[in-house]
Parts: sequence; C-alpha cells; structure tokens
Amino acid sequence: MQNKTITIGAILLAGSFLLAPPFASLTSAAENGRKFLYDQETGKTYGPKAPVVWEKPTKVNFIHEVHTKDAGLSCESCHNDIFTMKSGTVLADGKMTMDAMAKGQFCGVCHDGSTAFATNSKCTACHTDSKGLTPPDPIIWSKPVKAVIFYHQTHTEKAGLSCEDCHDELFAMKKGEAEKNDDFTMKSLYEGKYCGKCHDGSTAFASDTRCNACHIGLKGYERMTGASSSHGDKHKAPKAGH
Ligand code: HEC
Ligand code: HEC
Ligand code: HEC
Ligand code: HEC
Ligand code: HEC
Ligand code: HEC
Repeated sequence: MQNKTITIGAILLAGSFLLAPPFASLTSAAENGRKFLYDQETGKTYGPKAPVVWEKPTKVNFIHEVHTKDAGLSCESCHNDIFTMKSGTVLADGKMTMDAMAKGQFCGVCHDGSTAFATNSKCTACHTDSKGLTPPDPIIWSKPVKAVIFYHQTHTEKAGLSCEDCHDELFAMKKGEAEKNDDFTMKSLYEGKYCGKCHDGSTAFASDTRCNACHIGLKGYERMTGASSSHGDKHKAPKAGH
C-alpha cells in the first residue's frame, strides 16, 4: 500500500512537468477549450470534459475531472500503463471485470479501499444505472419460515433506493446470510431491524400488514424454486398464506 502511494506520488510529480497539452498541435485552441478542461491560471489541462461512458456489460461513467483536477492525479498515472487515450479500447478484450478490479487491475489499481474507495462499495458512484447490477432472480428465504420473497427490482428501480440503503450494514451482498441469524424474525422487523428499517408504515407498508406480500408460503416456494411435490401427498404443503 505504502509503495503504491509513493509510486503514484512520484508519477504525479513527473506528470506535472509533462502537462503541457499534447493536443495543442492537433486541434485549434478553441476546439480544445470545448473538448478539454483547461485552467488558464495554472495553464494545466485536466483531460476530456465529457465523461467516458461504457455501455457494456453495464453502464459505467468515468469522469476525468474528479481524478485530474479534484484528486490531483497526473495523466500518466492512468495513461498509458492502465488505459489508452481512446475511449472504448479497454472494453475490447473484455478483461475489465469486477473480479479483475478486486485483484488490483484497471480502476482497482487505486480503488482498493486505501488510495480510493473500494470497488466492493459505493456501486452507484461508478455505475450510473443500477440495471444489470442487481440479481435478476428474487431472493427467497426459507428460515425460519418457508418462504419469504424479496425483489431487488421493485426496491432499486421502482422505489428508487440505492444499494447503500441496504448494503452492507443492513444486509450482506450475499444471499442466505440474514437467515443464518437467530434474530431474523418478525419481532426484529417490528423493532426496525432488517426489512423493518423501512417497512414501518411510514417509509413503506408496515411489517404487521400485508403478510402475503412478503410471505409466499410453501406453495409459492415450490412454484418459485421448482421444488417438486411429485412425491405425492406425503410432502403436501399445509395451506400457506393465500
Ligand atoms: C484515473 C485515471 C485517468 C487519469 C488520471 C486520466 N485519464 Fe484519460 N482516460 C481514462 C480512461 C479510463 C479513459 C477511457 C479508456 C478506454 O475506454 O479504453 C480515458 C480516455 C482519455 C481520452 C480519450 C477520450 C475519448 O473520448 O476518446 C483522452 C483524450 C484522455 N483520456 C486524456 C487524458 C489527459 C490529458 C489526462 C491528464 C490531464 C488524463 N486523461 C488523465 C483514465 C484516466
Ligand atoms: C470504481 C468503479 C466501480 C465500482 C465502485 C463498482 N464497479 Fe462494477 N464495474 C466497473 C467497471 C469499470 C466495469 C466494467 C465495464 C462496464 O461494465 O461497463 C464494471 C462491471 C460490473 C459488472 C459486470 C460484470 C462483471 O463482473 O464485471 C457488474 C455486475 C458490476 N460491475 C457490479 C458492481 C457492484 C454490485 C458494485 C458494488 C458492490 C460495483 N460494480 C462497484 C466499475 C465499478
Ligand atoms: C490512479 C488512481 C485511480 C484510478 C486508476 C481510478 N481512480 Fe477513481 N478515484 C481516484 C481517487 C484518488 C479518487 C478520489 C478519492 C475517493 O473518492 O476515494 C477517485 C474518485 C473516483 C470517483 C468518485 C467521484 C465522486 O463523485 O466523488 C469515481 C466515481 C471514480 N473514481 C471512478 C473510477 C473509475 C470508473 C475508474 C476506472 C475506469 C477509476 N476511478 C480509476 C483514483 C483513481
Ligand atoms: C431494500 C434493500 C436492498 C437494496 C436497496 C439493495 N439490495 Fe441487494 N440484497 C438485499 C437483500 C435482502 C439481499 C439478500 C441478503 C441475505 O440473504 O442475507 C441482497 C443480496 C444482494 C446480492 C447477492 C445476491 C446473491 O445471489 O448472493 C447482490 C449482488 C446485491 N444484493 C446487489 C445489490 C445492488 C448492486 C444494489 C443496488 C443497485 C442492491 N443490491 C440494492 C437487499 C437490498
Ligand atoms: C431501505 C428501505 C427498505 C428496506 C430495507 C426494505 N424495503 Fe421493501 N419496500 C421499500 C419501499 C420504499 C417499497 C415501495 C413502497 C411500498 O410498497 O410501501 C417497498 C416495497 C416492498 C414490497 C412490495 C413490492 C414488491 O416487491 O412486491 C415488498 C414485498 C417488500 N418491499 C418486501 C421487503 C422485504 C422482504 C424486505 C427485507 C428483506 C424489504 N422489503 C426491505 C423499502 C424497503
Ligand atoms: C416486509 C416483509 C414482511 C411482512 C409484511 C411480514 N413478514 Fe413475516 N417474515 C419476514 C421475514 C424477512 C422473515 C424471516 C425470514 C423467514 O422466516 O423466511 C419473517 C418471518 C416470519 C415468521 C417466522 C419468524 C417469527 O417471527 O416467528 C412468522 C411466523 C411470520 N413472519 C409471520 C408474519 C405475519 C403473520 C405477517 C403479517 C401480519 C408477516 N409475517 C408479515 C418478512 C415479512
């Protein structure tokens, strides 16, 4: 960590001598002014004004200004070792994944929780569209009762909540974690824990109403998971909920 910080510092220093806009010779000054952030006082350029937008596999925005102007990084800290100066290049080989970043590559060179916030946090800072980030299938718990259902889409897309409203303090970003806790019960919900943080009758419908909105019962469970009841009546569900 120490080493990385020092390296970035060194690159920063070196970079500040090289900041004369390499674009001056390519386009007119007026055109540069339109496309690039330029500070007349210091005579420094801060990279393209427009965000770099990647559409696939998810929508991600990269903004030069927060890195070059606000965080004071030099062009060389990202160009050319990590990224080329042509948007879209890095997507071509498909290697820039969350896994690769967690291993310290691409954005993860700095977004490691020390130089800058980690890639396993603040998802929506980089992902401007939460579609495609949340699991497509509902989360279904079967402990202590079968079964309770949770849909991400209604919460993030319809109700407009952000990931941080639930992750990681209220819920881990891993299905099946909450049901390992003994206190994952209605009593806790009524006390404002878990779903009850919002399902209190004011932010969202109260946890002591509309039981069936959350509880799909044993039949619902079989329907949703494809768990078969083909062993005949022996396993027949007690009438649940509906
Ligand atoms: C924190 C990392 C980072 C820093 C610092 C940085 N860039 Fe970039 N830059 C990127 C990324 C990421 C891309 C997109 C690369 C891709 O899509 O393959 C990019 C793309 C570009 C492009 C191409 C834009 C386009 O639309 O094709 C230019 C020009 C550019 N950078 C100039 C600069 C200049 C000049 C500086 C310094 C003032 C700078 N960059 C500093 C990360 C950085
Ligand atoms: C520092 C920026 C950054 C943060 C923070 C971040 N991501 Fe990403 N994510 C990216 C980039 C860059 C890509 C690859 C390019 C693209 O999808 O457009 C990506 C791709 C993905 C993908 C596509 C498949 C894959 O695994 O690469 C998923 C899913 C994803 N991110 C989920 C998340 C979630 C969930 C979080 C929060 C826990 C998160 N991301 C936080 C930058 C970030
Ligand atoms: C050379 C180091 C470095 C690289 C590489 C880098 N970042 Fe950053 N980034 C920073 C620093 C430093 C900050 C400011 C400190 C912080 O917010 O934690 C920052 C801040 C941000 C922010 C917060 C902006 C805000 O609104 O506050 C976003 C979003 C972001 N980076 C996205 C990205 C994405 C996407 C990539 C990869 C394409 C990337 N960064 C690559 C160093 C880097
Ligand atoms: C209203 C609360 C809530 C919001 C908002 C929310 N989540 Fe979740 N998320 C959950 C719950 C609950 C679980 C399951 C946790 C458990 O079973 O312990 C979960 C699990 C996950 C998982 C793990 C899925 C698996 O198969 O293991 C991912 C990935 C995830 N969420 C991503 C996101 C992202 C990305 C966002 C923001 C776009 C988001 N979530 C917003 C409540 C939420
Ligand atoms: C951060 C706040 C928040 C948390 C935590 C939360 N919800 Fe919600 N939920 C909402 C909001 C807001 C709505 C939409 C308004 C309404 O229906 O009252 C909603 C709607 C719903 C709905 C009706 C729409 C649908 O998806 O069918 C269900 C069911 C639901 N939530 C279940 C749960 C469950 C189960 C949990 C716990 C695992 C949970 N919620 C946690 C805020 C939250
Ligand atoms: C906002 C969602 C939600 C609503 C509404 C809700 N529950 Fe629950 N319920 C849960 C969750 C989450 C659990 C724990 C996970 C599990 O048991 O699968 C749970 C567990 C339970 C349990 C077993 C644990 C315990 O507390 O004894 C019972 C019984 C129960 N609920 C009954 C009800 C009844 C009756 C209603 C309506 C008056 C209701 N629930 C409304 C989400 C909800």
